[in-house]
Amino acid sequence: MVKHLIDFNDISVERWEKIHKLAVDIKNNPEKYAEECKGKILATLFYEPSTRTMLSFQTAMLRLGGSVIGFDNPSNSSVSKGENLKDTIAIVSSYVDLLVMRHPLEGAAMAASMFSSKPVINAGDGGHLHPTQTLTDLTTIMLEKGKLTGLNIGFCGDLKNGRTVHSLLKAFLRYKGNKFYFISTKKLNIPDYLLEKLKETDNEFVFAETLEECMGDIDVLYMTRIQRERFDSEKEYLKQKGVFILDTEKMEKAKKDLIVLHPLPKVDEIDIEVDDDPRAKYFEQAENGVYVRMALIMTLLSENNEELSYNFSEKRECSNPKCITQTERYLKTVVDEDDREFCKYCNHKLI
Ligand code: NCD
Repeated sequence: MVKHLIDFNDISVERWEKIHKLAVDIKNNPEKYAEECKGKILATLFYEPSTRTMLSFQTAMLRLGGSVIGFDNPSNSSVSKGENLKDTIAIVSSYVDLLVMRHPLEGAAMAASMFSSKPVINAGDGGHLHPTQTLTDLTTIMLEKGKLTGLNIGFCGDLKNGRTVHSLLKAFLRYKGNKFYFISTKKLNIPDYLLEKLKETDNEFVFAETLEECMGDIDVLYMTRIQRERFDSEKEYLKQKGVFILDTEKMEKAKKDLIVLHPLPKVDEIDIEVDDDPRAKYFEQAENGVYVRMALIMTLLSENNEELSYNFSEKRECSNPKCITQTERYLKTVVDEDDREFCKYCNHKLI
Protein backbone atom coordinates (compact mmCIF):
# COMPACT_ATOMS: atom_id res chain seq x y z
CA MET A 1 0.00 0.00 0.00
CA VAL A 2 1.34 3.42 -0.91
CA LYS A 3 1.09 6.02 1.79
CA HIS A 4 0.27 9.11 -0.30
CA LEU A 5 -2.08 9.87 -3.17
CA ILE A 6 -0.06 11.88 -5.69
CA ASP A 7 -0.99 10.19 -8.97
CA PHE A 8 -4.30 8.30 -9.30
CA ASN A 9 -2.45 5.23 -10.54
CA ASP A 10 -0.68 5.00 -7.15
CA ILE A 11 -3.90 3.21 -6.17
CA SER A 12 -4.29 -0.29 -7.61
CA VAL A 13 -7.52 -1.12 -9.47
CA GLU A 14 -8.59 -3.42 -6.59
CA ARG A 15 -7.93 -0.75 -4.00
CA TRP A 16 -9.85 1.79 -6.10
CA GLU A 17 -12.81 -0.60 -6.26
CA LYS A 18 -12.84 -0.77 -2.46
CA ILE A 19 -12.75 3.02 -2.15
CA HIS A 20 -15.54 3.31 -4.73
CA LYS A 21 -17.75 0.78 -2.90
CA LEU A 22 -17.12 2.53 0.39
CA ALA A 23 -18.04 5.90 -1.20
CA VAL A 24 -21.32 4.46 -2.48
CA ASP A 25 -22.13 3.04 0.96
CA ILE A 26 -21.34 6.40 2.57
CA LYS A 27 -23.64 8.09 0.05
CA ASN A 28 -26.48 5.73 0.96
CA ASN A 29 -25.84 5.54 4.75
CA PRO A 30 -23.99 8.71 5.82
CA GLU A 31 -25.01 8.44 9.49
CA LYS A 32 -23.05 5.16 9.82
CA TYR A 33 -19.78 7.05 9.32
CA ALA A 34 -20.38 10.15 11.46
CA GLU A 35 -17.71 9.25 14.07
CA GLU A 36 -15.15 7.41 11.91
CA CYS A 37 -12.48 10.13 12.20
CA LYS A 38 -13.22 11.46 15.68
CA GLY A 39 -10.06 13.01 17.13
CA LYS A 40 -8.27 13.17 13.78
CA ILE A 41 -7.12 16.40 12.11
CA LEU A 42 -6.86 17.17 8.40
CA ALA A 43 -4.80 20.09 7.05
CA THR A 44 -5.89 21.71 3.79
CA LEU A 45 -2.99 23.72 2.33
CA PHE A 46 -4.23 25.58 -0.74
CA TYR A 47 -1.58 27.64 -2.55
CA GLU A 48 -4.03 28.11 -5.45
CA PRO A 49 -7.76 29.02 -5.51
CA SER A 50 -10.39 26.33 -5.09
CA THR A 51 -14.07 26.05 -4.27
CA ARG A 52 -15.19 22.43 -4.62
CA THR A 53 -12.00 20.57 -3.88
CA MET A 54 -11.15 22.43 -0.68
CA LEU A 55 -14.71 22.70 0.63
CA SER A 56 -15.51 19.08 -0.23
CA PHE A 57 -12.40 17.86 1.62
CA GLN A 58 -13.30 19.99 4.63
CA THR A 59 -16.91 18.81 4.51
CA ALA A 60 -15.75 15.20 4.17
CA MET A 61 -13.55 15.40 7.30
CA LEU A 62 -16.24 17.21 9.32
CA ARG A 63 -18.89 14.65 8.27
CA LEU A 64 -16.55 11.91 9.52
CA GLY A 65 -16.39 13.63 12.91
CA GLY A 66 -12.83 14.95 12.46
CA SER A 67 -11.45 18.50 12.47
CA VAL A 68 -9.79 20.71 9.86
CA ILE A 69 -7.02 23.34 9.89
CA GLY A 70 -5.26 25.08 7.00
CA PHE A 71 -5.03 28.08 4.68
CA ASP A 72 -6.71 28.95 1.39
CA ASN A 73 -4.33 31.75 0.54
CA PRO A 74 -0.57 31.34 1.07
CA SER A 75 -0.18 35.09 1.61
CA ASN A 76 -1.86 34.56 5.00
CA SER A 77 0.82 32.04 6.00
CA SER A 78 4.61 32.10 6.45
CA VAL A 79 4.95 31.24 2.76
CA SER A 80 4.64 35.02 2.22
CA LYS A 81 7.77 35.46 4.42
CA GLY A 82 9.69 33.14 2.11
CA GLU A 83 9.35 29.82 3.92
CA ASN A 84 10.14 26.90 1.67
CA LEU A 85 7.75 24.04 0.98
CA LYS A 86 9.93 21.53 2.85
CA ASP A 87 9.71 23.43 6.17
CA THR A 88 5.98 24.15 5.88
CA ILE A 89 5.22 20.49 5.21
CA ALA A 90 7.57 19.11 7.88
CA ILE A 91 5.91 21.33 10.51
CA VAL A 92 2.28 20.90 9.46
CA SER A 93 2.69 17.13 9.18
CA SER A 94 3.86 17.08 12.81
CA TYR A 95 0.55 18.76 13.80
CA VAL A 96 -2.02 16.73 11.86
CA ASP A 97 -2.92 13.21 10.69
CA LEU A 98 -3.38 13.87 6.97
CA LEU A 99 -2.53 16.70 4.52
CA VAL A 100 -4.33 17.85 1.37
CA MET A 101 -2.35 20.22 -0.82
CA ARG A 102 -2.99 22.24 -3.99
CA HIS A 103 -0.11 24.12 -5.58
CA PRO A 104 0.44 25.98 -8.89
CA LEU A 105 3.67 24.12 -9.71
CA GLU A 106 3.81 20.66 -11.28
CA GLY A 107 5.17 17.96 -9.00
CA ALA A 108 4.63 20.03 -5.83
CA ALA A 109 2.53 17.34 -4.14
CA MET A 110 5.17 14.71 -4.76
CA ALA A 111 7.82 17.05 -3.33
CA ALA A 112 5.62 17.64 -0.26
CA SER A 113 5.16 13.91 0.26
CA MET A 114 8.94 13.48 0.53
CA PHE A 115 9.06 15.73 3.62
CA SER A 116 5.79 14.72 5.27
CA SER A 117 5.53 12.27 8.15
CA LYS A 118 1.79 11.83 7.36
CA PRO A 119 -0.08 10.93 4.14
CA VAL A 120 -0.28 13.70 1.53
CA ILE A 121 -3.14 13.95 -0.95
CA ASN A 122 -2.57 15.85 -4.19
CA ALA A 123 -5.49 18.24 -4.71
CA GLY A 124 -3.99 19.55 -7.96
CA ASP A 125 -0.38 20.37 -8.92
CA GLY A 126 -0.36 23.02 -11.66
CA GLY A 127 -1.50 21.67 -15.01
CA HIS A 128 -0.26 18.19 -14.09
CA LEU A 129 -2.59 15.90 -12.06
CA HIS A 130 -5.72 15.95 -9.90
CA PRO A 131 -6.29 12.39 -8.61
CA THR A 132 -9.20 13.07 -6.26
CA GLN A 133 -11.18 14.63 -9.10
CA THR A 134 -10.57 11.33 -10.89
CA LEU A 135 -12.02 9.42 -7.93
CA THR A 136 -15.08 11.66 -8.24
CA ASP A 137 -15.30 11.21 -12.02
CA LEU A 138 -14.93 7.42 -11.98
CA THR A 139 -17.52 6.97 -9.23
CA THR A 140 -19.95 9.19 -11.14
CA ILE A 141 -19.38 7.21 -14.37
CA MET A 142 -19.88 3.92 -12.49
CA LEU A 143 -23.09 5.18 -10.87
CA GLU A 144 -24.45 6.42 -14.20
CA LYS A 145 -23.13 3.81 -16.66
CA GLY A 146 -22.33 0.82 -14.44
CA LYS A 147 -19.00 0.18 -16.19
CA LEU A 148 -15.64 1.68 -17.15
CA THR A 149 -15.12 -0.27 -20.38
CA GLY A 150 -16.73 -0.26 -23.81
CA LEU A 151 -17.46 3.47 -23.63
CA ASN A 152 -16.98 6.28 -26.14
CA ILE A 153 -15.47 9.06 -24.06
CA GLY A 154 -15.11 12.62 -25.35
CA PHE A 155 -12.70 15.07 -23.71
CA CYS A 156 -13.41 18.62 -24.82
CA GLY A 157 -11.67 21.97 -24.19
CA ASP A 158 -8.24 22.63 -22.72
CA LEU A 159 -6.71 19.17 -22.85
CA LYS A 160 -3.18 20.53 -22.62
CA ASN A 161 -3.50 22.33 -19.29
CA GLY A 162 -6.49 20.51 -17.78
CA ARG A 163 -5.08 18.39 -14.95
CA THR A 164 -8.42 16.67 -14.40
CA VAL A 165 -8.24 15.38 -17.99
CA HIS A 166 -4.68 14.10 -17.51
CA SER A 167 -5.54 12.23 -14.31
CA LEU A 168 -8.75 10.74 -15.70
CA LEU A 169 -7.16 9.62 -18.95
CA LYS A 170 -4.27 8.02 -17.02
CA ALA A 171 -6.79 6.12 -14.93
CA PHE A 172 -8.59 4.91 -18.07
CA LEU A 173 -5.32 3.55 -19.47
CA ARG A 174 -5.80 0.65 -17.05
CA TYR A 175 -9.04 -0.42 -18.77
CA LYS A 176 -9.62 -1.88 -22.24
CA GLY A 177 -12.07 -1.32 -25.04
CA ASN A 178 -12.84 2.37 -24.70
CA LYS A 179 -12.64 4.87 -27.53
CA PHE A 180 -11.45 8.42 -26.80
CA TYR A 181 -12.39 11.55 -28.73
CA PHE A 182 -10.04 14.46 -28.12
CA ILE A 183 -12.03 17.55 -29.06
CA SER A 184 -9.70 20.51 -28.92
CA THR A 185 -7.68 23.04 -30.90
CA LYS A 186 -4.20 22.00 -32.04
CA LYS A 187 -2.63 24.32 -29.44
CA LEU A 188 -4.56 22.83 -26.53
CA ASN A 189 -4.39 19.16 -27.35
CA ILE A 190 -3.54 16.31 -25.05
CA PRO A 191 0.18 16.12 -24.03
CA ASP A 192 2.43 13.75 -25.97
CA TYR A 193 3.45 11.78 -22.89
CA LEU A 194 -0.16 10.69 -22.42
CA LEU A 195 -0.66 9.88 -26.13
CA GLU A 196 2.44 7.71 -26.02
CA LYS A 197 1.05 5.80 -23.04
CA LEU A 198 -2.37 5.52 -24.73
CA LYS A 199 -0.81 3.98 -27.86
CA GLU A 200 0.52 1.14 -25.70
CA THR A 201 -3.03 0.14 -24.64
CA ASP A 202 -6.01 -1.61 -26.28
CA ASN A 203 -7.99 1.60 -26.68
CA GLU A 204 -8.76 3.58 -29.83
CA PHE A 205 -8.53 7.35 -30.07
CA VAL A 206 -9.39 10.07 -32.58
CA PHE A 207 -8.93 13.84 -32.73
CA ALA A 208 -11.85 16.14 -33.53
CA GLU A 209 -11.97 19.85 -34.21
CA THR A 210 -15.70 20.30 -33.54
CA LEU A 211 -18.18 18.90 -31.05
CA GLU A 212 -20.77 18.40 -33.83
CA GLU A 213 -18.71 15.79 -35.67
CA CYS A 214 -18.70 13.32 -32.75
CA MET A 215 -21.71 14.33 -30.65
CA GLY A 216 -23.82 11.37 -31.86
CA ASP A 217 -21.17 8.76 -30.92
CA ILE A 218 -20.26 9.79 -27.40
CA ASP A 219 -21.43 8.09 -24.16
CA VAL A 220 -19.52 10.27 -21.69
CA LEU A 221 -18.69 13.88 -22.59
CA TYR A 222 -16.11 15.44 -20.27
CA MET A 223 -16.21 19.22 -20.78
CA THR A 224 -13.45 21.48 -19.41
CA ARG A 225 -12.82 25.21 -19.21
CA ILE A 226 -9.91 26.91 -20.96
CA GLN A 227 -7.35 27.26 -18.14
CA ARG A 228 -6.72 31.01 -18.30
CA GLU A 229 -4.17 31.01 -15.43
CA ARG A 230 -1.89 28.55 -17.25
CA PHE A 231 -1.38 30.77 -20.35
CA ASP A 232 1.75 32.86 -20.82
CA SER A 233 -0.33 35.91 -21.86
CA GLU A 234 -3.95 37.11 -21.86
CA LYS A 235 -3.69 37.49 -25.66
CA GLU A 236 -2.93 33.78 -26.06
CA TYR A 237 -5.87 32.91 -23.79
CA LEU A 238 -8.32 35.09 -25.75
CA LYS A 239 -7.37 33.27 -28.98
CA GLN A 240 -8.52 29.96 -27.44
CA LYS A 241 -11.53 31.13 -25.44
CA GLY A 242 -15.07 30.35 -26.63
CA VAL A 243 -14.10 27.85 -29.36
CA PHE A 244 -16.12 24.95 -27.90
CA ILE A 245 -19.55 25.65 -26.48
CA LEU A 246 -22.03 22.90 -25.61
CA ASP A 247 -25.58 24.14 -26.19
CA THR A 248 -29.07 22.62 -26.47
CA GLU A 249 -28.76 22.34 -30.26
CA LYS A 250 -25.69 20.10 -29.93
CA MET A 251 -27.39 18.14 -27.14
CA GLU A 252 -30.18 17.28 -29.62
CA LYS A 253 -27.63 15.42 -31.75
CA ALA A 254 -26.42 13.36 -28.78
CA LYS A 255 -27.41 9.91 -27.53
CA LYS A 256 -30.40 9.70 -25.18
CA ASP A 257 -28.19 8.15 -22.52
CA LEU A 258 -25.22 10.48 -22.92
CA ILE A 259 -23.85 11.87 -19.66
CA VAL A 260 -22.16 15.28 -19.55
CA LEU A 261 -19.50 15.72 -16.87
CA HIS A 262 -17.43 18.78 -15.94
CA PRO A 263 -15.00 19.13 -13.01
CA LEU A 264 -16.30 22.71 -12.56
CA PRO A 265 -15.97 25.69 -12.40
CA LYS A 266 -17.55 26.19 -15.82
CA VAL A 267 -17.15 29.54 -17.51
CA ASP A 268 -18.75 29.80 -20.97
CA GLU A 269 -18.19 26.31 -22.41
CA ILE A 270 -21.63 25.00 -21.39
CA ASP A 271 -24.70 27.05 -22.18
CA ILE A 272 -26.70 27.59 -18.99
CA GLU A 273 -29.80 25.96 -20.57
CA VAL A 274 -27.94 22.64 -20.72
CA ASP A 275 -28.01 22.58 -16.88
CA ASP A 276 -31.71 21.60 -17.08
CA ASP A 277 -31.06 18.64 -19.41
CA PRO A 278 -31.25 15.42 -17.34
CA ARG A 279 -28.10 14.21 -19.12
CA ALA A 280 -26.08 17.01 -17.46
CA LYS A 281 -24.59 15.26 -14.44
CA TYR A 282 -21.98 17.76 -13.27
CA PHE A 283 -23.78 18.89 -10.14
CA GLU A 284 -24.28 15.26 -9.01
CA GLN A 285 -20.61 14.71 -9.87
CA ALA A 286 -19.59 17.55 -7.52
CA GLU A 287 -21.76 16.08 -4.73
CA ASN A 288 -20.16 12.65 -5.23
CA GLY A 289 -16.83 14.40 -4.57
CA VAL A 290 -17.67 14.59 -0.87
CA TYR A 291 -18.42 10.85 -0.57
CA VAL A 292 -15.30 9.73 -2.43
CA ARG A 293 -13.15 12.05 -0.33
CA MET A 294 -14.72 10.64 2.86
CA ALA A 295 -13.88 7.15 1.60
CA LEU A 296 -10.33 8.19 0.71
CA ILE A 297 -9.68 9.85 4.08
CA MET A 298 -10.93 6.76 5.93
CA THR A 299 -8.80 4.49 3.75
CA LEU A 300 -5.56 6.45 4.14
CA LEU A 301 -6.03 6.82 7.89
CA SER A 302 -6.80 3.16 8.47
CA GLU A 303 -3.92 1.53 6.62
CA ASN A 304 -0.36 0.79 7.59
CA ASN A 305 1.48 2.34 4.73
CA GLU A 306 4.94 1.74 3.40
CA GLU A 307 7.60 4.43 2.85
CA LEU A 308 8.55 5.12 -0.75
CA SER A 309 12.03 5.05 -2.21
CA TYR A 310 13.25 7.21 -5.10
CA ASN A 311 15.76 7.00 -7.96
CA PHE A 312 17.81 10.19 -7.51
CA SER A 313 20.07 11.61 -10.20
CA GLU A 314 22.65 14.29 -9.49
CA LYS A 315 23.57 14.90 -13.10
CA ARG A 316 20.20 15.76 -14.62
CA GLU A 317 17.59 18.56 -14.47
CA CYS A 318 13.96 18.86 -15.54
CA SER A 319 13.19 20.71 -18.78
CA ASN A 320 9.78 21.93 -17.56
CA PRO A 321 9.84 25.60 -16.40
CA LYS A 322 6.71 24.90 -14.34
CA CYS A 323 8.25 21.97 -12.43
CA ILE A 324 8.57 22.39 -8.64
CA THR A 325 12.31 21.60 -8.92
CA GLN A 326 12.82 24.97 -10.66
CA THR A 327 11.85 27.01 -7.60
CA GLU A 328 12.51 24.71 -4.63
CA ARG A 329 16.17 24.37 -5.56
CA TYR A 330 17.12 22.01 -2.73
CA LEU A 331 15.03 19.25 -4.36
CA LYS A 332 17.08 16.48 -5.93
CA THR A 333 16.16 15.30 -9.42
CA VAL A 334 14.11 12.09 -9.29
CA VAL A 335 14.10 9.83 -12.32
CA ASP A 336 10.89 8.04 -13.36
CA GLU A 337 11.44 4.32 -12.81
CA ASP A 338 9.44 3.35 -15.95
CA ASP A 339 11.31 5.69 -18.29
CA ARG A 340 14.58 7.11 -17.05
CA GLU A 341 14.41 10.05 -19.51
CA PHE A 342 11.51 11.57 -17.55
CA CYS A 343 11.19 13.59 -14.35
CA LYS A 344 9.24 11.73 -11.66
CA TYR A 345 7.79 14.97 -10.22
CA CYS A 346 6.09 16.30 -13.37
CA ASN A 347 6.59 13.69 -16.17
CA HIS A 348 8.46 16.10 -18.47
CA LYS A 349 11.74 15.23 -20.22
CA LEU A 350 14.98 15.48 -18.29
CA ILE A 351 17.98 17.35 -19.74
C1 NCD B 1 -10.60 21.75 -11.56
C2 NCD B 1 -9.17 22.06 -11.16
O1 NCD B 1 -8.93 22.80 -10.21
O2 NCD B 1 -8.31 21.52 -11.82
N1 NCD B 1 -11.55 22.08 -10.62
C3 NCD B 1 -11.81 21.22 -9.60
O3 NCD B 1 -10.94 20.85 -8.84
N2 NCD B 1 -13.05 20.75 -9.49
C4 NCD B 1 -10.94 22.22 -12.90
C5 NCD B 1 -10.65 23.63 -13.29
O4 NCD B 1 -10.21 24.45 -12.49
O5 NCD B 1 -10.93 23.93 -14.44
